[in-house]
Amino acid sequence: MKVSLELGQLIEVDIGPIAHGGHCVARHEGQVIFVRHALPNERVVVEVTSLAKSFARGDAVRIIQSSPDRVNAPCRYAGNCGGCDFQHVSISAQRTLKAAVITEQFHRLAKIEIAVDVEEMANEFDEEGRGLHWRTRVAFLADDEGRLGLRRNHSHDLVRIESCLIAVPSIATTQALAHRWPPGSVVQVTVSNTGDEVVIVKNEAGGQEILGAPQVDQTVLGRTFRVAADGFWQVHPAAPKVLSEAVIDSLSPVHGDHGLDLYAGAGLFTGALLSRIGTTGRIDLVESSTPGIADAKVNFAHSANVTIHHGEVLRMLEGMKRRGGVDIAVLDPPRAGAGAKVLRVLCALTPRRIAYVACDPAALARDTAYLRDLGYFLVDIRAFDLFPMTHHVECVATFEPVLDAG
Ligand SMILES: C[S@@+](CC[C@H](N)C(=O)[O-])C[C@H]1O[C@@H](n2cnc3c(N)ncnc32)[C@H](O)[C@@H]1O
Repeated sequence: MKVSLELGQLIEVDIGPIAHGGHCVARHEGQVIFVRHALPNERVVVEVTSLAKSFARGDAVRIIQSSPDRVNAPCRYAGNCGGCDFQHVSISAQRTLKAAVITEQFHRLAKIEIAVDVEEMANEFDEEGRGLHWRTRVAFLADDEGRLGLRRNHSHDLVRIESCLIAVPSIATTQALAHRWPPGSVVQVTVSNTGDEVVIVKNEAGGQEILGAPQVDQTVLGRTFRVAADGFWQVHPAAPKVLSEAVIDSLSPVHGDHGLDLYAGAGLFTGALLSRIGTTGRIDLVESSTPGIADAKVNFAHSANVTIHHGEVLRMLEGMKRRGGVDIAVLDPPRAGAGAKVLRVLCALTPRRIAYVACDPAALARDTAYLRDLGYFLVDIRAFDLFPMTHHVECVATFEPVLDAG
């Protein structure tokens, strides 16, 4: 149906279910409108903020009938700053909404009915479990006067901020927020779990300056990883340990296993697997980014049974196919997921188990359907609340081949 709503128009609607992406679905005279800052079963006034061919987007600007799950946002920038979209939702209801999205995505994209609990994460900086103080990395932007802020919802405009409640305390109170920076620069502040702190300033011309050490140390399950200050690392303080343990539980590695760590970054999951496969086992680690590979080479310099491959997963797997199968595989692709081509070559290597770490339930559900077509079935899925106050959620799914009864 064509959208006849207008930008800025105010409409009163009943809010329907949560959808992927953190907004709720509503209808106005038959037209679909995706509404931010609302909750299912509320009646709200929505301001139309953008129009697409077959739907509109809007923001709830007045709540006429409120959900019992609605709370006063703990952050004074909520609703304005684009960093969080669930500040108006009680922390337990946030997890219920994320679980509903996972179930809906699997129903729609994989044609599989699943129920999952989104697990609450322990956080030493947030002992009351309010969903605050968990970001160990924040990229701020400097406005025309050089003051830091974060982007407004769906906009290039900045909201100037003095502190960020979802950042860990050392970032929330960082001196960087009081400092004036070159206008237009991105100022990324990172702290590691060993106390290293780095500020990277990227200017509009593409140059960058690193204030602090260019690498930080991160300790997980007794192993220390070197990670480039600008390289990938899991953001929630609990994530590296929780995900490593979930991957071990998923794959049940044993001595002598040959494993794959695909989209490996600095090698977080290789580190976890090494403790289980012994010296008779071996791991092929695959990563495309140069900083990630440089870190992996340092992190496994003394592990003769880890082979590091610098390149695209698809090309590396195609090369491996000619050299025989593998026992287990973990993959942790970017938001877009692994896709059919990668999964086809991976399944041809006949791992007995695959652990798929996913930050987007839609990509995971789509890839679950591909895996089923390739003979690998979903046998378990867990979900972790690693991004409280936002709609984001991390999953670890386990797949096993269907054995031919004949
Ligand atoms: C979500 S991160 C996971 C990193 C690591 N597993 C961890 O938990 O620290 C995804 C990683 O995949 C890498 N990557 C993205 N596309 C890739 C590709 N086509 N082939 C190989 N690596 C890729 C990125 O550089 C990034 O390090």
